[in-house]
Amino acid sequence: MDRMARLKARSKRRVARWTTSLATAAALMLGAPAVADDAPVRKPPLSTTRKTNRVIYRPTEGRQIYRDRCAVCHRADGSGRGGDDADSNGFPPLTGLSAWLATAEGQQYVAHAIIYGPYGAVEVGDKLYYGLMPRFGPRFTNLQIAEVIRYIAEVLNKPAPGYRPITVEQVEAARHLPDDMAALEQERIALPPR
Ligand code: HEC
Repeated sequence: MDRMARLKARSKRRVARWTTSLATAAALMLGAPAVADDAPVRKPPLSTTRKTNRVIYRPTEGRQIYRDRCAVCHRADGSGRGGDDADSNGFPPLTGLSAWLATAEGQQYVAHAIIYGPYGAVEVGDKLYYGLMPRFGPRFTNLQIAEVIRYIAEVLNKPAPGYRPITVEQVEAARHLPDDMAALEQERIALPPR
């Protein structure tokens, strides 16, 4: 295969992965089994994130929510997948978050990430992850978001001095970012590197 053909094949593989991750995200959001589907998927405008739990998903236990809705990408132990491989988007680990989760700013960013679903690229240590996360704001109640953050903070990470569990009021307050992703990026840049 010449260079051009190889590049084309690689970019095709990448698109296929991307489509699969979008379809997985959509399936998760709809509570359906995570199967690949070719239907195009678009993120809703940010403003719809204020309507909570339109798809009825009832569990309120952090561990169950994490296993049902997060582990498929971030893994059951929060160690993440892939990263920094030109051929893979990867999913960042949710371990190594003790420092962020011991501050109000860090907790707020984590809540925003869950509500709005970041996309673009995130750097963790010396690895770069560039993928797409579903937007869980419309799918979860404030209590569900608070409980899954507690699970990440208290089970997947070791609470650092100063840690306080996030409250449902803080999650409600986190539902009011301006209508663009740049706000989320800026917020992350302002935190210490993880
Ligand atoms: C379909 C895969 C997928 C699912 C499901 C998913 N995530 Fe993510 N998550 C990602 C990707 C990809 C990123 C990085 C986004 C980027 O590249 O900008 C991310 C980023 C994050 C971040 C920000 C990390 C950082 O360093 O900035 C947090 C926090 C997070 N996810 C929590 C969760 C939680 C909690 C759940 C379950 C409610 C969840 N994720 C479900 C794919 C997923």
